Amino acid sequence: MLTTRDKWKIYKSVCITSFVIVIALMVLQKNIIASSSQLLEGDLSRSRQHSQDIVKTQKRNLFRKTENFWKVEKPEESTKELQVVNEHHSRTWDVTSSKCKANLNFTRMVWFSGLEATFKQFLLYRHCRYFPMTINHPEKCSGDIYLLIVIKSVITQHDRREVIRKTWGKQKEVDGKKIKTLFLLGAPSKEEERANHQKLLEYEDYIFGDILQWDFLDSFFNLTLKEVHFLKWFSTYCQDVQYIFKGDDDVFVSPDNILEFLQGNTEKNLFTGDVLYKAKPIRRKDNKYYIPLALYNKTHYPPYAGGGGFLMSSSLARKLFVASESLDLYPIDDVFLGMCLEVLHITPTKHDGFKTFGIVKNKKSKMNREPCFFKNMLVVHKLLPAELTQMWNLVQSSLKCSNKVEIL
Ligand SMILES: *[C@@H]1O[C@H](CO)[C@@H](O)[C@H](O)[C@H]1NC(C)=O
Ligand SMILES: *[C@@H]1O[C@H](CO)[C@@H](O)[C@H](O)[C@H]1NC(C)=O
Ligand SMILES: *[C@@H]1O[C@H](CO)[C@@H](O)[C@H](O)[C@H]1NC(C)=O
Repeated sequence: MLTTRDKWKIYKSVCITSFVIVIALMVLQKNIIASSSQLLEGDLSRSRQHSQDIVKTQKRNLFRKTENFWKVEKPEESTKELQVVNEHHSRTWDVTSSKCKANLNFTRMVWFSGLEATFKQFLLYRHCRYFPMTINHPEKCSGDIYLLIVIKSVITQHDRREVIRKTWGKQKEVDGKKIKTLFLLGAPSKEEERANHQKLLEYEDYIFGDILQWDFLDSFFNLTLKEVHFLKWFSTYCQDVQYIFKGDDDVFVSPDNILEFLQGNTEKNLFTGDVLYKAKPIRRKDNKYYIPLALYNKTHYPPYAGGGGFLMSSSLARKLFVASESLDLYPIDDVFLGMCLEVLHITPTKHDGFKTFGIVKNKKSKMNREPCFFKNMLVVHKLLPAELTQMWNLVQSSLKCSNKVEIL
């Protein structure tokens, strides 16, 4: 007869063996995926180059780890100079824990109980400022970059990212000016997305290497989190970028027109887009942008640029990051940036080439689909992937436009 102790021993060894087998299988599977990936997809060379990039990044990470290792071993060697550098730029994403408890202080306030559930949730977690990264690309910002294109995206909108990579978001070099593209994502908010899409996203990133993902819920009210996470990321990793274009994944952008515009720019604190100077907070409850008085009680918002697409200089982006840390988060991301600009006493400038609220007010108007308008624009809201491809091809073709085309 086996004693309980023997049974326990057998049980334990069975457990350990199966654990080892599972690990071995996982490693094997990863290798198979890695090697077969080069055969998948038509784009052989890009995939291969990317896996080399990954190896390089991994090597760099390894190197960084050993650097840290030595730093821990010999703390007395860190010179004064090094400390100053570390104070000003921590060169890695320094948030490692997602834990953040709800701020129950609000529940004791009378006005809080009258709020809609979404605003309650927003306020309870408003103080949770930064989250860890699940996908990072520190190498993306190395070297001189003229224009960094960053696009807010969500895990399920794979087709939009695909079209953007082939059209306006294509990474390239124009007259020695490098253009790079990144997509900003949070964590999927639905259970089934978490199960299925996350692995696909990781594979997509493995192929293209252009995804940044943070471990916060990708919800409408968390868009401001995406904003501040990007500003922090940019301040951490990007020393030699000149300009940033930030936008949605459903806009039409003309990189050529943007480059032409930037060519003539002399403003150090550039912030330009479709600016609203005296927008009023929306108080109708059925509106997507409704804000209760308890959250914002002034009659107007500070000037801000529509989040669909705007341009800023990198020096301003770093200032905006500092300013953002002095403010409570606000649920509407573009308004929040307007508040940060206000802190800095900087007014964003309106440019007629940014049409993030549509070319003409009447959405059904044919004007909104007229390629000659698009040809002269920097950014236009709002196109689905198929429309975007079609418009892009039309604008790139030898389109004959009369010079008289004017925007209404
Ligand atoms: C809640 O209130 C206490 C006491 O006023 C304060 O110390 C604490 O920081 C508050 N909690 C949060 C998350 O703000
Ligand atoms: C924002 O993300 C955090 C972290 O995932 C989550 O706890 C919070 O509920 C989210 N807030 C909203 C308003 O969706
Ligand atoms: C508006 O809100 C601010 C900050 O939340 C508060 O200090 C102020 O008393 C409010 N003003 C009015 C008129 O309610």
